[in-house]
Amino acid sequence: MCGIIGYVGNKPVVDILLDGLKQLEYRGYDSSGIAVECDNQIKVYKAVGKLNNLREELSSHAYEISKANTGIGHIRWATHGVPNVINAHPHTCNCGKLAVVHNGIIENYKELKQKLEALGCVFKSQTDTEVVAHLTAMNYAKVNDLKQAVQLTAHEIEGAYALAIMHSDEPNKLVVTKRNAPLIIGVGEGEYYAASDIPAFIQHTNNAIYLKDNEVATLTPSELKIEDSEGKPIIAKVEKLPWEPVALSKMGYKHFMLKEIHEQPDVIRNILAGKLRCSDEPICLDEVKLNKDSLKKLNRIQVIACGTSLHAAMIGKYIIERFCQIPVDVEASSEYIYRSTVTDSNTLVIGVSQSGETADTLTAIKQAKAKGSHILIITNRPDSAMAREADSLLSVNAGIEVSVAATKSYIAQLTSFYLLALYMAEIKESHNIAEINKIKQEMLVLPQKIEQILVNKDNIKACARKYSSTRDFIYIARGINYPTALEGALKLKEISYINATGYPAGELKHGPIAMLDDTMPVLSILMNGSVYEKLLSNSEEAKARNAQMIALTNSTDKKLDELFDFIVRIPDVDEILSPIVSIIPLQLIAYYIAEFLGKDVDQPRNLAKSVTVE
Ligand code: G6P
Repeated sequence: MCGIIGYVGNKPVVDILLDGLKQLEYRGYDSSGIAVECDNQIKVYKAVGKLNNLREELSSHAYEISKANTGIGHIRWATHGVPNVINAHPHTCNCGKLAVVHNGIIENYKELKQKLEALGCVFKSQTDTEVVAHLTAMNYAKVNDLKQAVQLTAHEIEGAYALAIMHSDEPNKLVVTKRNAPLIIGVGEGEYYAASDIPAFIQHTNNAIYLKDNEVATLTPSELKIEDSEGKPIIAKVEKLPWEPVALSKMGYKHFMLKEIHEQPDVIRNILAGKLRCSDEPICLDEVKLNKDSLKKLNRIQVIACGTSLHAAMIGKYIIERFCQIPVDVEASSEYIYRSTVTDSNTLVIGVSQSGETADTLTAIKQAKAKGSHILIITNRPDSAMAREADSLLSVNAGIEVSVAATKSYIAQLTSFYLLALYMAEIKESHNIAEINKIKQEMLVLPQKIEQILVNKDNIKACARKYSSTRDFIYIARGINYPTALEGALKLKEISYINATGYPAGELKHGPIAMLDDTMPVLSILMNGSVYEKLLSNSEEAKARNAQMIALTNSTDKKLDELFDFIVRIPDVDEILSPIVSIIPLQLIAYYIAEFLGKDVDQPRNLAKSVTVE
């Protein structure tokens, strides 16, 4: 994981690096550091914790680094070695003339370290990255050229990496390279940027080059040269980037998470626009490159994802099986990649990922692609590595999601699954058209229903306040809302660190019920429909063990007042669409509990938004 940035040009580099790192904080935030070139020397500054600590550290060196205009920076999510100053990047070679920042994992670092130690290198940190600094310095001593030295290093290291390297003997120059980790070059006027992601430099330029695996780029203020791993020159395509920096403002909300929760009605409207205009017109989803014949031939669908995207995928299974009559398996990408999967050209493989960069999902997609499956990617990043692997690309257009806890991207993924399932059902003629049209009609009014919840959120806030001191939380549901229970629990765990678990309510009696007593809140996601009565009796069973009962419901049944200690009511909606509406109060409950507890809502401990390591 981690985020890297580099700059060469004529502007003062320190603020460019710090502002860029600020935008990369979603990739990690346990420590940070920069290396800049000053008076033919490389100066390195690091700090543990949030980026502000690095800013403070730099304030006492402001004068000496003010003139620097070449540098690299790093924000870390620890993989090898605890978060401390020594393990923070940049890492340097023994003589301090070469500095490197790295995103990824060097898998053969132990062998390389042994070899380098035998040659006299003295390691300071516990990181895998430090081998790159020593190895490249050794190579530099042989070839006396930074680009060639990096090319030699790239041949020796294994794993995933994006690297930016500078050497004081070659001033005003950066050499960058990548394999299985993102690295984008920003092309300015007399300046170049290199970063793990676009927001790091988009305020300076929206012209960019996506470096490909094993390419090595040399950046100076006047020139950019890219070569492949064998040293053959590459003419790279400069692309115009779509995103505006304004998307990164909190727009008056206290946290990005709260802002992103409130954006959800518009996220749905944006996705539906042009694809679902009215209930009696067929859904238009030209992005799906499967024709009627190939859709009919599909023998199964596999959906792979991680985290919140996995929960969206689980709901996707319910919807696709209901409307399309195709068996769907859903699996965590990290499990999928380590077993022999049965996948062929009649299997549709759907990868779901907000970032489009999650390492496990990317690997899983590549494995399925190699077996000839059609790959459909549902992502918020049409410019991502996963998007580039797609045969069909459903871009969910939720806009940049800054808060580590995913909210609007989840709603966007769900909306996309509904569109996809209904679209396939229309083409395959696999479901009653009157029912499809009824669901389409209801989808068009979902944004208003969510707005009603957001306007009347005081009761949800009161619920959060009442239960904010609990140590454990159980969410129960059945059927299509079981993944909603998982996602509600995940939101609470992520940002409040309360031990929260989601269960299919029928399983409560097979073990979890043993945990219930009057200290345990049980939140029941009680939606009108096929499992309402069943869930009601599961809730009775929990109540009989003295649990604190909370209902999240669209029922107006007055009898619920007797059973539940707290009721959050939401607008009525067809059961099949209820996950889109029922998750909103759960996001808010998690948000307000974390807020009451004084937690760092947008950047919870130990997490990162984009997990680019296995
Ligand atoms: C990280 C994030 C989660 C996210 C998961 C999958 O763990 O903290 O919020 O759900 O990665 O990310 P993706 O970008 O593939 O959806």
